[in-house]
Amino acid sequence: MDILVAGGHGQIALRLLKLLADQGHTARGLIRKPEQAADLRAAGAVPVLGDLENDESLAGYVKGADAVVFAAGAGPGSGPARKRTVDLGGAVKLADAARETGVRRYVMVSSIGAQDPASAGPAMRAYLEAKAEADAYVVASGLDYTIVRPGSLTDDPGTGRVRATRELGQRGPVPRDDVAAVLAACLTTPSTIGVTFELFTGDTPIAEALRF
Ligand SMILES: NC(=O)c1ccc[n+]([C@@H]2O[C@H](COP(=O)([O-])OP(=O)(O)OC[C@H]3O[C@@H](n4cnc5c(N)ncnc54)[C@H](OP(=O)(O)O)[C@@H]3O)[C@@H](O)[C@H]2O)c1
Repeated sequence: MDILVAGGHGQIALRLLKLLADQGHTARGLIRKPEQAADLRAAGAVPVLGDLENDESLAGYVKGADAVVFAAGAGPGSGPARKRTVDLGGAVKLADAARETGVRRYVMVSSIGAQDPASAGPAMRAYLEAKAEADAYVVASGLDYTIVRPGSLTDDPGTGRVRATRELGQRGPVPRDDVAAVLAACLTTPSTIGVTFELFTGDTPIAEALRF
């Protein structure tokens, strides 16, 4: 498969690109900073230069892909405006580009808490509102979506064992390694199409955990 990962130099994205490249896929990562290209190449991925906020359309990057993954984010140091332009706006642009170019498959890195942004504290609310709106847009887009809502991300080594649940509103940690492995598995697991689930570290091997 040819897979375009938006936010290609992110901590999850780099792990995902490496996994996909190791599995023999064409793993393309969309980055806005040319100096990040070498890290993508070192992971076996193809860097694609583009900007989720400043490019009017992402269609030129998405064209030819079999699937897209949204793994970008404005990050904890950003204010509410960039939650709108990256976490929401970037995800919407990616969905529009997928539709325009006939790419059916869209896997979204969302977040726990996106099912109820109003109950979050002020620091998280703008972020979770952006995530909730982005998820709703992708669900309504008609694309073959999967919305993955990880718990608190850690840099602990992955275990290959997770808890994936459609009962939303839970809490817990999950290593970025395991999030990346789950994203990769979603791309080749049709039963995850049309599913929104939360993801935590757990006891179940990934392939089994994704049997919804
Ligand atoms: N932290 C948590 O506990 C938690 C929990 C659940 C879900 N999440 C979600 O998981 C996502 C991925 O996590 P992570 O740790 O991999 O995040 P990360 O390392 O911060 O990666 C986000 C990436 O988005 C890129 N980006 C930002 N603006 C961009 C733009 N305009 N055009 C292109 N790329 C752009 C950044 O690139 P630059 O270097 O160019 O800025 C960065 O590489 C987060 O963004 C968040 O939404 C986080």
